[in-house]
Amino acid sequence: MNQGLKGRDYITTQEWTLQELEVALSLATELKQMKRRGIPHRYLEGKTLFMLFFDKSTRTRNSFEAGMTQLGGHAHYIDAETSQIAHGESPKDTGIILSGYGHGIAIRHDLVPGEGNAYIREVARWADVPVLNMQSDVDHPCQTLADLMTLREQLGHNLRDVKIAVSWAYAPSYAKPLSVPQGLILLLTRYGMHVTLAHPPEYTLMPEVVEQARQNAQASGAKFEIVDSMDEAFRDAAVVYPKSWGVLELFGQSEESLKLARQYQHWICDERRMALTSSVKHASTTKPSLYMHCLPADRGHEVTDSVIDGPHSVVYDQAENRLHTCKALTALTM
Ligand code: CP
Repeated sequence: MNQGLKGRDYITTQEWTLQELEVALSLATELKQMKRRGIPHRYLEGKTLFMLFFDKSTRTRNSFEAGMTQLGGHAHYIDAETSQIAHGESPKDTGIILSGYGHGIAIRHDLVPGEGNAYIREVARWADVPVLNMQSDVDHPCQTLADLMTLREQLGHNLRDVKIAVSWAYAPSYAKPLSVPQGLILLLTRYGMHVTLAHPPEYTLMPEVVEQARQNAQASGAKFEIVDSMDEAFRDAAVVYPKSWGVLELFGQSEESLKLARQYQHWICDERRMALTSSVKHASTTKPSLYMHCLPADRGHEVTDSVIDGPHSVVYDQAENRLHTCKALTALTM
């Protein structure tokens, strides 16, 4: 089981080599088959993962919790609001103390730009068990690994030159973190995909992340471009991943943020836009382009029901693969 990854933190995909990511993807595929066939895989018997949440979750919490049970271990849910963290207990003390009780710490801290990644790294500095990022302000590496697994299942192992449009989309609910589009442009440029990032001018991603994506693309020979038109990004794309995110400078100012977003209500993924995309060839068949979303989606705003429930959509495959990839990551590192 252990492939030299025991004890390793998983905070961004960037810090794992392609070979290490391959080990995780390959184990995730194996675990998916084992679950389907009812083959026991209790690789973490008696082990405990502490899951610390500063934000809400459906997929992440439940995939880790169910995953740990299936691996023979146990996951504790810790809500930052109802633990001593709310009274100011430090990441250092939290990391040291939880390390003494269990075998891994997973953290979601994604809503405040500049805070989550720093907090997770401070816990990791003091913890002597692996620390896993369940979504920070910078990256959502559990989501993007599941997305990569889904892309491979749908389009084959080699994703070189496959065009993906990672686009901003309108949502009226709240300013969502930047970590999913950031994680996608970081990871998929390393796999040689043709990544087109689209957003209105105000919705720029963190400059250091964009720069790293450019360097990744240069190193892998991938194409990486940024446009300000959803139509342009969708044109001839084999895969589209339209989702909402907030303006970096307006986090915490929800009224201003939503007022600005309302100007861009026409940034929706609908049938007209899907008609701009290109069908894809895989294993001697031609199939519709893929519509992806990490969920939850703002239906009727980010995407129409006809697209998310239609033939392009692989959103439930992505959500299922969250389970298999998080099991692989915990089994390898804990
Ligand atoms: N995609 C994702 O991370 O979902 P949750 O916010 O429900 O965990």
